[in-house]
Amino acid sequence: MSTQSAPNSPLLRVTDLGVAYGRVRAVQSVSLEVGAGEFVAVIGSNGAGKSSTMKAISGVLAPVAGRIEFNGAEVTGLPSHRLVRAGLAMVPEGRQVFAEQTVEDNLRLGAFVFAATPSRIDEAVERGFTLFPRLAERRAQAAGSLSGGEQQMLAIARGLASSPKLLVIDELSLGLAPRVLEMLFPVLESLNRDGLAILLVEQLATQALAVSHRAYVMETGKVTLSGRSADLARDPAVRQAYLGRA
Ligand SMILES: Nc1ncnc2c1ncn2[C@@H]1O[C@H](COP(=O)(O)OP(=O)(O)OP(=O)(O)O)[C@@H](O)[C@H]1O
Ligand SMILES: [Mg+2]
Repeated sequence: MSTQSAPNSPLLRVTDLGVAYGRVRAVQSVSLEVGAGEFVAVIGSNGAGKSSTMKAISGVLAPVAGRIEFNGAEVTGLPSHRLVRAGLAMVPEGRQVFAEQTVEDNLRLGAFVFAATPSRIDEAVERGFTLFPRLAERRAQAAGSLSGGEQQMLAIARGLASSPKLLVIDELSLGLAPRVLEMLFPVLESLNRDGLAILLVEQLATQALAVSHRAYVMETGKVTLSGRSADLARDPAVRQAYLGRA
């Protein structure tokens, strides 16, 4: 299962991925790549198969077809805790923080899979609080009592607590106020500048194309367009479908 690929292969390489729910095929032969330190966006309409693709990449769902390679090894079908250990962390759609647990315990759980010692776990927790001081003030509060924006910060910090090479984020903006996003997008850009690779699924196509280097457009289970984000933002078909015509 751990076939080594070419030395200069991308950090993540997804080839001909298929995902199905029973007999319903949600993802058809999707191929995509994320290079080390790259910021890649996935945009597309509702039901296009974006979340299904991300779930397969992060080991939440086993794909029915295709191959996933991460950091030079094949990881197709590995469960998420193995992928987290390999350096691939996921911020799922809808955040899914552990509502009954405190903010701090959510971060500890994020760090636990990765960090070998209690002091490494403490360090990871404190890194989260440095990144999002709002969370530090609320460390003893139940995560379920946080605002939507704070829960998204916590989900990101929890993902980062495992010290990933790649952070997969499914719908950063879902249900969040523009004011919160004005703060979160720059945080992602800054993490990326510090070397973190990011794969971002995002409904807000304008913002997604503005922060990312490259992007993929998904429609009905397939990648229909891909390229440099700046080029896609100027593409008439993309503009009409996702960016409005103005
Ligand atoms: N648990 C499930 N059981 C059955 N079908 C599902 C399940 N989850 C998703 N699907 C179907 O798979 C297809 C792709 O869904 P998916 O959630 O991957 O799309 P998406 O691009 O993330 O959409 P959105 O933008 O609304 O989040 C849809 O037709 C959806 O109805
Ligand atoms: Mg989705």
